[in-house]
Amino acid sequence: MSEFAQLTNNRLSELELTGLNETRAQELAQELRQRIEYHSYRYYVLDDPEISDGEYDALYRQLERLEGQFPQLITPQSPTQRVGGAPLPGFATVTHRIPMLSLGNALSLAELRDFDVRIRRGLPGEEVAYVAEPKIDGLAVSLLYENGNFVLGATRGDGRQGENITQNLRTIKGLPLRLRHSAPPVVEVRGEVYMSKRAFERLNALRSGQGEPVFANPRNAAAGSLRQLDPRITAERDLDIWLYGLGYTEGVDPASHWEALELLRGWGLRVNPLTKRCESIDEVIAYCEEMEGRRSSLGYDIDGVVVKVDSLAQQEELGFTARSPRWAIAFKFPPEEATTVVKDIIVQVGRTGALTPLAILEPVVVAGSTVARATLHNEDIVKEKDIRIGDTVIIRKAGDVIPEVVKPVVSKRQGTERVFVMPAACPVCGAPTHREVGEAVTRCTGDRCPAKRLEGLEHFVSRDAMDIEGLGPAIISQLVEAGLVEDPADLYSLTFDQLIGLDRMGQKSVENLLSAIERSKSAGLARVLFALGIRLVGAGAARDLAEHFGDIDKVMNASTEELTAIPAIGDKIAASVREYFSDPENLALIQRLKDAGIAMTEDQTASPAASENPLAGKTVVITGTLDSMSRKEAQELVRSLGGKATGSVSRNTDYLVAGANPGSKYDRAVELGIEIWDEQEFLRQTGRES
Ligand code: IVH
Repeated sequence: MSEFAQLTNNRLSELELTGLNETRAQELAQELRQRIEYHSYRYYVLDDPEISDGEYDALYRQLERLEGQFPQLITPQSPTQRVGGAPLPGFATVTHRIPMLSLGNALSLAELRDFDVRIRRGLPGEEVAYVAEPKIDGLAVSLLYENGNFVLGATRGDGRQGENITQNLRTIKGLPLRLRHSAPPVVEVRGEVYMSKRAFERLNALRSGQGEPVFANPRNAAAGSLRQLDPRITAERDLDIWLYGLGYTEGVDPASHWEALELLRGWGLRVNPLTKRCESIDEVIAYCEEMEGRRSSLGYDIDGVVVKVDSLAQQEELGFTARSPRWAIAFKFPPEEATTVVKDIIVQVGRTGALTPLAILEPVVVAGSTVARATLHNEDIVKEKDIRIGDTVIIRKAGDVIPEVVKPVVSKRQGTERVFVMPAACPVCGAPTHREVGEAVTRCTGDRCPAKRLEGLEHFVSRDAMDIEGLGPAIISQLVEAGLVEDPADLYSLTFDQLIGLDRMGQKSVENLLSAIERSKSAGLARVLFALGIRLVGAGAARDLAEHFGDIDKVMNASTEELTAIPAIGDKIAASVREYFSDPENLALIQRLKDAGIAMTEDQTASPAASENPLAGKTVVITGTLDSMSRKEAQELVRSLGGKATGSVSRNTDYLVAGANPGSKYDRAVELGIEIWDEQEFLRQTGRES
């Protein structure tokens, strides 16, 4: 049982806060602070919270109230005092008692081997072990704790002198204001402040929404945030920190770097869990290769691996050059980026009518594969990044596969580049395009847009929808071009004579196709709902709707409340369903499908067989950000499929679902060899793929 479980179970009641004398208030404040610190530690350092955010907030508010009543009890180390102090006129200078050095670089694995050779030459006949750590792409800082209290924080500056940024560092929630038990009287620790990829994206979205310039990368965003004179701004920025070493200390004497890191962990400081002790340079090299592979899936940017000789006695023996230690080196990853030219920006039209700008690139190899096109997502992104036709651009592999246009190389512009304009008319059907206020997507408004129609028909007949075998894209195109089919209902009046006239359709295939069409009439409501292509309604949501309501008329008439009463149906899906069924065109289509004899009911007692359901009885942890639903929705989805959704990864976990920026649960899952699903796989396994 945890040291504070007792306290948490026996929560302070609101009543207790009234009519307190100061001595009792003091005791309570101390107890609350200890609890808050403990739970912050569980959350930020161990990434394994024991209480919900709500419970944590309640504790925090109780402390705030108590301190409001007894302001004389406020201490600088109180968790309520992270953001304090007025804006500064400027930063004071701090002289580092031990200089903060930088590192030499190894730009290839061969250079890393050279480093090992130098080390061995410097330590003849000795065994050498290394510690390898992710090289965090942020800003080096020094934190001074006296008697366990955080008293001074500084930037690296020129290595000898930095700036006093204590006020700003205090706002970082992962940085403890007090060290945990048994901290020595004086400890200076060093580490890297960074901004997670997710926080960076959020910040930039916010800034561009407010018409402010966006940051080029998380490192710049972190630097800009740390150098704010007003700590309230820093506090809004969601910075984080990893600690990776000791500076000046008194009363601490580890024998190795690894031991030093263990001490940091024990004091409640965040030490990167990917840090590894390696017995040989081969192990170090394997580690570097592994990190390079995992680079894009980490929640924060790393630009290499720092390799340090583990033994501090050996470090001392090796000593320093003028600028950097001989006992450590930074292995830098080769860039995952490449430069190429945007030959054109075209627009694609999808099933829902969404117009997506697509960059057509001069083919270029990035991280081992050729990239010739890259989605630009929407108009705003093209504008924000200011990508023009003819621009030389930097391409990056985001995630493992999807290429991304990072930015134009403005210095290479010749003046002949053209600005992309979202067409006012659909490039496929010529109907006006429309962009809803507050939405990023421009859509084709044409009811008869062939692009929408074609994709819509392909979706309608697809395997997870009506499953009409023998109706591939080529045949659908022919049917549409011949004017035989405009919408899905038309499929049901196709005749033998019409089909036999098409390319590559012999008697046998026509007969097969006609019977497949006939069979699809009894596919059931779940498939029909999915086949209709209602925005955000994937196969899983369609199944939930069908099983819950049993009849299409009930789905059509359902209120938002009735829809969201289904666990995996959130507000967005509900709104989309309502919108779909309020469109007279869609209602007409449904009527025609009914008239054609398509079953629009579902047996409500039939739930998917356990064997069909991969999550039944499984324990699943969701981490990171998912695009298609909130974490809570995902957990409810798991539960609705008979699985167990838990908050922390253990040996009992069957699957980890990792969204963007998954954090340390991901690392833990890798450590334990647990099967990891990305969002796509999760959607596939739960039948939510749309
Ligand atoms: S150790 C003497 N460890 O990389 C040892 N540095 O050029 C000094 N960095 O200024 C640094 N992650 O800002 C170390 N795990 C890590 C690091 C790391 C990032 C940065 C740090 C330093 C630069 C080295």
